[in-house]
Amino acid sequence: MPILVTGGAGFIGTHTCIELLNSNYDIIVLDNFLNSDPESLNRVKEITGKDFKVYDIDLLEKEKVEKVFNENAIEAVIHFAGLKAVGESVEKPLYYYHNNITGTLMLSEVMEKYNVHHLVFSSSATVYGVPEEVPISENFPLSATNPYGRTKLMIEEILRDLYVSNKNWSIASLRYFNPIGAHESGRIGEDPKGIPNNLMPYITQVATGKLKELNVFGDDYPTSDGTGVRDYIHVVDLAKGHIKALEKIVSTNGVEAYNLGTGKGYSVLEIVDAFEKASGKKIPYKIAPRRSGDIAECYANPSKAEKELGWKAEKGIDEMCRDSWKWQSENPDGYRVKGSALS
Ligand code: NAD
Ligand code: UD1
Repeated sequence: MPILVTGGAGFIGTHTCIELLNSNYDIIVLDNFLNSDPESLNRVKEITGKDFKVYDIDLLEKEKVEKVFNENAIEAVIHFAGLKAVGESVEKPLYYYHNNITGTLMLSEVMEKYNVHHLVFSSSATVYGVPEEVPISENFPLSATNPYGRTKLMIEEILRDLYVSNKNWSIASLRYFNPIGAHESGRIGEDPKGIPNNLMPYITQVATGKLKELNVFGDDYPTSDGTGVRDYIHVVDLAKGHIKALEKIVSTNGVEAYNLGTGKGYSVLEIVDAFEKASGKKIPYKIAPRRSGDIAECYANPSKAEKELGWKAEKGIDEMCRDSWKWQSENPDGYRVKGSALS
């Protein structure tokens, strides 16, 4: 029975589709390509040598989502589909609440109707708001500092209520730390539209010469070198975490949250240094003011995922930088290649 992957054409979705196909799951992808390119799925097919159905559907169009469940005996859903830009969410809160929350409500209603109760949800470390200490465990207080974060927090709460209402539900909310890297083939990777908001895609675009220099947002944080510290995790490790979560939820009922991180923090300048070593490229940078809403340090205690899912991140920072660079240098314009369309 197939696994439905919503948002499967995106950065984390494509990498997870590969791990699912390599683990012999049948998959179906639902995506409206709001923030992705159909070419990404052609590449997933190319890498795995496997075919699968793709539905170009908006989760907000409930009848169309129902059609997907009607046509396929779906066993479980991995739900990536959502908008993720913090700044944009501050400017367009209703757009974010509607897309992320209503989209999840539509999906959950259809799942309930078709008796599909296994769900893996893409949450985020952003649900910890400004943590009082690090490393961060799942039982820390939850809060949000922007509409994007609030959508993740609200969806987690909605999913907990769903389980209370019907004990057949089995749900894992995966709280991702900072996914970077790319598939080792260099054929798929992160493909942000416009100027990147996040550190690694910004660095890789400085390395290709597309952007002039990196702005390091603040060097006066209480960290080893004054720059922000984050828990960067290789996207392939993250993708593998979804397979472990899926195995867990099909064998139990309940609702649980898991941190997916490495447990190790790196500062912005440490990332610049690791990237320069991995790529052989110099990354010019200047110190800029702090970015509003940023916190000093954020890294996971990932022991719950190790104990309960049997999952642990394996790839180190050098591999993350090497694979990010391979993807960006071999695809300087991302998926925007001539004649790309679904094959
Ligand atoms: P992405 O933007 O690359 O992928 C999301 C996909 O969802 C895109 O292909 C987009 O077209 C699709 N989508 C959005 N709204 C949709 C809708 N209404 N109907 C159908 N498809 C829709 O993002 P990503 O980095 O792969 O992130 C996947 C998920 O993980 C998101 O929910 C994101 O919030 C969450 N997350 C990401 C990060 C990160 O750093 N990348 C960190 C924490 C959590
Ligand atoms: C950001 C989001 C977070 C989201 C996560 C993954 C904000 C405030 N937070 O997290 O909600 O879950 O992305 O999508 O946007 N940095 C620079 N220069 C840059 C870019 C970043 O110095 O050009 C620094 C940041 O200050 C931070 C670190 O690099 O210290 C990582 O930044 P980023 O990649 O944007 O991730 P987060 O801020 O952790």
